Amino acid sequence: MSTLKQQIEQLWQDSETIGTQIKTQEAFELVHSAVELLDNGQARVAEVAEDGQVIVHEWLKKAILLLFRVSKMQTIELGPFEFVDKLPLKSKYLEKGVRVVPGASARWGSFLEPGVIMMPSYVNIGARVGANTMVDTWATVGSCAQIGSNVHLSGGVGIGGVLEPPQASPVIIEDDVLIGSRCMVVEGARVGKGSVLAAGAILTKTIPVIDSETGEEISRGFIPAYSVAVGATRERKFSGGTFGLPCILVLRRLNEGERHDKAALNQILRSHGLAQ
Ligand SMILES: CC(C)(COP(=O)(O)OP(=O)(O)OC[C@H]1O[C@@H](n2cnc3c(N)ncnc32)[C@H](O)[C@@H]1OP(=O)(O)O)[C@@H](O)C(=O)NCCC(=O)NCCS
Repeated sequence: MSTLKQQIEQLWQDSETIGTQIKTQEAFELVHSAVELLDNGQARVAEVAEDGQVIVHEWLKKAILLLFRVSKMQTIELGPFEFVDKLPLKSKYLEKGVRVVPGASARWGSFLEPGVIMMPSYVNIGARVGANTMVDTWATVGSCAQIGSNVHLSGGVGIGGVLEPPQASPVIIEDDVLIGSRCMVVEGARVGKGSVLAAGAILTKTIPVIDSETGEEISRGFIPAYSVAVGATRERKFSGGTFGLPCILVLRRLNEGERHDKAALNQILRSHGLAQ
């Protein structure tokens, strides 16, 4: 993998200087083999290290960006549907153990672990979705987002894509999280293991996360593990007056390993096949 990494880094540099002239079959094959590693799960764009820090593997993000430079537009026909794109769709879901309801699609170069259920939704290149996660109707998982196992991305959730710049950290949703309907989690924000984010909340990298018990700002853009959090507002003074700006309020903390009862209910519905 390290030679491939060096070759991609070299191609990236070349593309900065010679632009579209890198569009050769050799370059295409090189980039293709790097994205293939993402597609089959052997490599990932980002991961959380043991010390809790997010490690971004920039070269793989560069490979995705290069893929757009070296690929040509093609017509993709699918029954009565027609698309025009540079990238193919993901395929062979049955052997991957992934359930894909009509209307759902994932791009090649994303990785879906067994047990993932995709309701009519979208998963973009470089994204990774962990085992038994439900991507509910009209949820979108943006490029390079890293979604854990046993997560529920409820209907209409928008997980932002962070592809450029290559060093930027993507959105991370850790294991056992419930993201409520229509939440927007974007710009490299992060939701810690076992947390619940209430319907309609907005979390960006600069939105303050406030502890409701102490009133203190816990972080910006990071909801700690096992939090039950809602979208709220905070007062902010401007020269023109005092206005309410959005924040995330942590209502309470669950015990480590505890599953919020609303997330637990969803588990039961899912195992009986009723939630779909
Ligand atoms: C966050 C959530 C889990 C809280 O559940 P809970 O722990 O049972 O707590 P409650 O419902 O009693 O709500 C606690 C407080 O937060 C408020 N609240 C609830 N949902 C909220 C939301 N989406 N945004 C802002 N405040 C909210 C409640 O009004 C309540 O206020 P109160 O203490 O003054 O009564 C739940 O409200 C929620 O949003 N779940 C996700 C629902 C969803 O999207 N499901 C999709 C799958 S069907």
